[in-house]
Amino acid sequence: MSDYPWKSVLITGASSGLGRALAEVSSAPGVTLHLSGRDAARLEDTATACRALGASVATRVVSVTDAESMADWIAQAGRLDLVIANAGISGGTGDAVEPAAQAVRVFATNLTGVLNTALPAIEAMAAQAPGPDEVRGRVAVISSLAAFVAAPGAPAYCASKAAVQRWAEALDASERKRGIRLHAICPGFIRTPMTASNPFAMPGLMTPEQAARRTLAGIAAGRVRVAYPRPLYVMARLLGGLPPAWRNAMMRQVPAKPPQS
Ligand SMILES: NC(=O)c1ccc[n+]([C@@H]2O[C@H](COP(=O)([O-])OP(=O)(O)OC[C@H]3O[C@@H](n4cnc5c(N)ncnc54)[C@H](OP(=O)(O)O)[C@@H]3O)[C@@H](O)[C@H]2O)c1
Repeated sequence: MSDYPWKSVLITGASSGLGRALAEVSSAPGVTLHLSGRDAARLEDTATACRALGASVATRVVSVTDAESMADWIAQAGRLDLVIANAGISGGTGDAVEPAAQAVRVFATNLTGVLNTALPAIEAMAAQAPGPDEVRGRVAVISSLAAFVAAPGAPAYCASKAAVQRWAEALDASERKRGIRLHAICPGFIRTPMTASNPFAMPGLMTPEQAARRTLAGIAAGRVRVAYPRPLYVMARLLGGLPPAWRNAMMRQVPAKPPQS
């Protein structure tokens, strides 16, 4: 039996890291998963693992940047209790400045890609009957603790995560009125391919499964913002509250992640 109340869950970026862990942790007999990613082979690996845990799984190879295909996929999925806009990319400045093409790519995936997932999901949920908890559906947006710190080593990444965190939290207030909930998920460091090339210490580094369980427990508890681990969240809020010139002076001492090609 599932640890969570959702019978139908859609997850983007399920072919790796946190998305795969969210899919596996959600898996149980009676649960239907709609999973997407760009890499067909890795996506199928996730699907096979989830089926072995008892879930029914449908996969779609699609980029979150393709608004039309995303809307089509979400519209034909049927009832959706929980949609997790997880797909994301990162990239740093290395020893130089952030490449322009990287900044554009990061916003296209982490911001427009989240809108391409969440907006059609919200419209579909508005037409669904409420569940036993009076909620028609939930949309969780995977932001980051990076949302709270304008780190000079990853300008577009931090800004894209701040944008989706603010958007989801603000929208939750109005969407609640029609029975739809939004959740801004703000994890600290997770051991995934995304963090494999980080050239700095990662305090509180979690496994993808630990992060997935924290995420789903926070959503199940109905929290608008799910930020963890707590000590790193407090540190991010303190750093984020410093005058920007002080923060930049401090954070320039930390080696930046290299740009991603
Ligand atoms: N790792 C961390 O420390 C950390 C911390 C806070 C937040 N996060 C966030 O957690 C989410 C998952 O990251 P992760 O650490 O699990 O990274 P990951 O292992 O690199 O996985 C990223 C996932 O996003 C998918 N993706 C990327 N671009 C896509 C696109 N255009 N269309 C569809 N799918 C796309 C990838 O699919 P393909 O491989 O199939 O292309 C992959 O499944 C991201 O939003 C990330 O910003 C991560």
